[in-house]
Amino acid sequence: MHRRSAFWLVFSVSVSLASGCKGASERDKAAPVGTSGGVAKKGHVVGVSQCNLGEPWRVQMNAEIARAAAAHPELRLVFKDAQNDSLRQRAQVEELLAQRVDLLIISPKEAAPLTKPVAEVFRRGIPVIVLDRAVEGDEYSTFIGADNRRIGREAGKLALKLLGERGRIVELKGLMTSTPGQDRHQGFREGLELERHPGVTVAFEADMQWLEPNARKEMDSALAANKAIDLVYAHNDPGAHGAYLAAKAANREKQMRFIGIDALPHEGVAYVQQGLLDATFLYPTGGAEAIAVALRYLAGEKPDKRITLGTRLYTKENVAKGGEAID
Ligand code: FRU
Repeated sequence: MHRRSAFWLVFSVSVSLASGCKGASERDKAAPVGTSGGVAKKGHVVGVSQCNLGEPWRVQMNAEIARAAAAHPELRLVFKDAQNDSLRQRAQVEELLAQRVDLLIISPKEAAPLTKPVAEVFRRGIPVIVLDRAVEGDEYSTFIGADNRRIGREAGKLALKLLGERGRIVELKGLMTSTPGQDRHQGFREGLELERHPGVTVAFEADMQWLEPNARKEMDSALAANKAIDLVYAHNDPGAHGAYLAAKAANREKQMRFIGIDALPHEGVAYVQQGLLDATFLYPTGGAEAIAVALRYLAGEKPDKRITLGTRLYTKENVAKGGEAID
């Protein structure tokens, strides 16, 4: 097996064991991290509320959290998987609060329904690190994530370039009740500057809720309703891949370009290498940064309120040399 795939597998498995592939009662048990002779050292309990583990990107986030925490035997992680259900995630945050965790890391499914439970934890004086998708207001300790509006804007500029400023676009949006969906949409339209580019139109747009099967269905509708489609911008790589598969099934995939976001090595980057996607933007999970910030809160420090992660662009021209940073 390729060394990188072996690495991926080990971490996917370790996270599945910690939080994914168990029965409901087993799944949410504490996963001791950094045990010495099988006995967890006395230390801090960190609750990790993950909105779902159905997508590889989220499995990767949990793996990065687990890997960073493994170097700190004083941390004990309690993973919760809300299985893409905001009400379940609310209840799980309340459970973690009742268990009196020392710190909460949360990647919320949607902003509005998770705002109040996060604020309650924060008001009890428990540090809350919000990862990737934001909540409303400012009742949390630190937000860590990439600049989705910036990524959207860069995607818009790239679309103009790929199209030679002329063509019909399909936009497949992430869940629009989550902040990355809103920001990737707004940024894209800013980058496109449609008022200055009369030859470009967004011919079809739909919310595929971050999910590949939904993207495929929406793209079937887009193909049926539009004779000409020149480019698809999907808010994540599973969405772009679903659109590609729909276009391929209609024998039209060669007529259009595809742009996605996430750039996991075995997902988006591989799609670019295989020539399925024209481009993908890195969306780092922030898992390692969350543990670094958690350690600082637990040591009594006061980290910044917002930590913005960088991005990279992968295209067929630069993928072999690891993409290029966008600064
Ligand atoms: C995974 C995911 C990623 C996306 C992120 C946005 O659930 O859909 O593909 O980049 O969430 O929050």
